[in-house]
Amino acid sequence: MYNSRIIGLGKYVPENIVTNEDLSKIMDTSDAWITERTGIKERRHIKKGDGNTTATMALKATKIALERANIAAEDLDLILFATLSPDYYFPGSGVVLQDLLGIPACPAMDIRNQCSGFIYALSTADQFIKTGMYKNVLVVGSENHSGGLDMTSRGRGVSVIFGDGAGAAVLTRETNKERGIMSSHIYSEGSYAEELSLIGPSTNRWVPEIIEANDPEDLSYYPYMNGQVVFKNAVVRFSEVINEGLKKNNWLSTDIDMFVPHQANLRISQFIQKKFGLSDDQVYNNIMRYGNTTAASIPIALTEAWEEGKVKEGDKVVLAAFGSGFTWGSSLMVW
Ligand code: UT7
Repeated sequence: MYNSRIIGLGKYVPENIVTNEDLSKIMDTSDAWITERTGIKERRHIKKGDGNTTATMALKATKIALERANIAAEDLDLILFATLSPDYYFPGSGVVLQDLLGIPACPAMDIRNQCSGFIYALSTADQFIKTGMYKNVLVVGSENHSGGLDMTSRGRGVSVIFGDGAGAAVLTRETNKERGIMSSHIYSEGSYAEELSLIGPSTNRWVPEIIEANDPEDLSYYPYMNGQVVFKNAVVRFSEVINEGLKKNNWLSTDIDMFVPHQANLRISQFIQKKFGLSDDQVYNNIMRYGNTTAASIPIALTEAWEEGKVKEGDKVVLAAFGSGFTWGSSLMVW
C-alpha cells in the first residue's frame, strides 16, 4: 500500500472579466446585493470565439500542472475529469482531454458530482494509487457555466454566482506514509437532487418533448437552485465532514495550516472559519475574483494558495466541498 501526493498544480481562467456592475446593466441586480450575499465581485466568462471549452480550459490548467510535476502527459496512467458542464452530453470530457494531451490511449473517466466533483475525483485517484494499480493520476475540474445561464432578471438568483475556469492536480505514488493524502470522506443524499439541478434536456425530458411543448415559460434547461435549502445543508455537512476528517487523523482544528473550501459563498466559508476557530491566514478564499466555478473551484484556489507560498512542504491541508446531489466531502493531506 502506498500513499498518494499532489506534485503539480495548475489553473486557467478565461480572460473575459464580468463584474457585478456589468451584470447590473443586463439584469435587475446590484454590486451591493451580490457582494453582501455572496462576497463575489467579479467572475470570468468564456467569450464566443475565444477558443475556450470545458476540455480546452482543462488542457491549459493540466499543462501547467504537468510541467510543475515534471511529468510528461504520456506518463499519466489515468485521467479523472470532474465537471457538470462537459463538452458533449456524451462522451465525457475526460476522453476529449486525453486526445488534446496527445496520449494515444489511457483510461479517462468523468466524475459527475458537481461542486464536490474534485473531492470525489481526488478520493478515487487516491484509491487507485494506494492499491498500486496506477502511479500517476491527473485530477482535473473544469466548468463552462456561462453559456448555459439565464442572463436575465428571471435567472439572477443563480446566474450572478457561477463562473468559468479550470484547475488541475497531478498525483503520484508516495512511499512516505506521513505525507500525501491521509484520508478522504465522501457522501451523497439524493433526496435533495432537484434542489440544485438542471432538469432538461435529459432522459426525463428528451429534446423532442421540449420542442413539442414549445413552452417559452419552460425553464427546465436552466440551472435551478433553492439557495436557502442549499445554504442550510451546506453549513451542517461542511462541519460534519471536516470534523470526521480531523477525528480520523487525530488532528485538532488548530493543527490546520491551510483550509481550502469549495468556493460556494464567502458567507459559508466565513461561517466554517468561525466554527473551527481558524484565523484568516488558515483559510484561502478567491470567490471574490472567480465566483463559484463548481468542480474547478478547489483546484483553482489550491493552485493560487500554493503559488502564493501559503501551502508548503509538511503543511496540514484540509479541502472540503458541498453541492448539488446533495454531495459533500473532505480530503486531508500533509503537503
Ligand atoms: O456551489 C453549490 C452550493 N451552492 C451554495 O452553497 C449556495 C448557497 N446559497 C446561497 O449562497 C444563497 O442562498 C444565495 C446567495 C444564492 C441567495 O441568497 P439568499 O439570502 O438566500 O437570497 P434569497 O434567494 O432568499 O433571495 C432574497 C431576495 C429575493 O427577493 P424578495 O423575494 O425578498 O423580494 C430575491 O428575489 O433577493 C432577491 N434576489 C436578488 N436580488 C438582487 C435573488 N437574486 C438576486 C440578485 N440580485 N442577483
